[in-house]
Amino acid sequence: MVINGATGLYGIIGNPVRHSLSPAMHNAAFAKLGMNRVYVSLKVSDIEQGIAGLRALGFRGVSVTVPHKEAVLPFLDEIDSVAEKIGAVNTLVFQPGQDGKVHLCGFNTDWLGATTALAEKVNLQESRVLVIGAGGSAKAVGFGLIEAGAEVIIANRTAASGKALADWLDASFVPLAEAEVASVSADVLINTTSVGMEPDNEGIAVPPAILSGFSVVMDIVYAPLETRLLREAKAAGCQTLDGLAMLLYQGIAQFELWTGKEAPRAIMRSALEENLEKMWDSSLQN
Ligand code: ATR
Repeated sequence: MVINGATGLYGIIGNPVRHSLSPAMHNAAFAKLGMNRVYVSLKVSDIEQGIAGLRALGFRGVSVTVPHKEAVLPFLDEIDSVAEKIGAVNTLVFQPGQDGKVHLCGFNTDWLGATTALAEKVNLQESRVLVIGAGGSAKAVGFGLIEAGAEVIIANRTAASGKALADWLDASFVPLAEAEVASVSADVLINTTSVGMEPDNEGIAVPPAILSGFSVVMDIVYAPLETRLLREAKAAGCQTLDGLAMLLYQGIAQFELWTGKEAPRAIMRSALEENLEKMWDSSLQN
């Protein structure tokens, strides 16, 4: 890769960001398409100063991750209508404004990630989907599913936040208790909680015995890539989608917003897989 005076600057802002797989995915895509652009990880604690810095330095596109997805909103010039509805932004596009200043618009591509991956396996318009969790990821996933015409059921440990999300989505709610979850009949199950994420490798958000009732089981956890949920789902005869699927498809949508070009999907997926192994390398510093 040649970096010179014409190299376009892209990156991810978050805290922490050292484990992010997005640089590997986007740099592989830029390289594949022969684009003189680079994507870097940027640890940002003060979001207002961070945004001012990105504007001043001429960044063209930036991904936003935890904890800034909502906090960034006041510092944008424009918010895409879907991002505004969700109340969170994961993608920034910087463009020259009419007044010579940078015009900064925020988008959300998280909601597309799960839906696009699932749409390759099932007809979402005819599917009932059980979403486990009610945090920011569940909100984006649930929004995408409703947009795609699926029927959504939210299951959450804490009833108040689960019911609040279900109401917002116009979906139904069940407590995350064995008997209640087992009584739900649905085609797809998606785990949006951190249950099963390293070092909780044996964690599973639902009783394994219910998995055979679903045709597709998806996990948004990608460390480990094969979570206990996915291992048990495979054993129960379900099709599975791992956490890299969601990361990949939200990244594809970002890449296409930034470049206007079709994203090289296979290269991006391979880059994610190759770098997953290195992600926990203790030599990576914050
Ligand atoms: P994110 O933005 O990544 O979705 P979050 O907003 O912290 O993260 O949401 C985490 C979700 O995972 C919540 O729904 C949380 O359940 P509660 O609302 O009951 O806290 C869920 N979650 C986290 N750890 C869990 C566990 N051990 N068992 C069940 N649910 C869990």
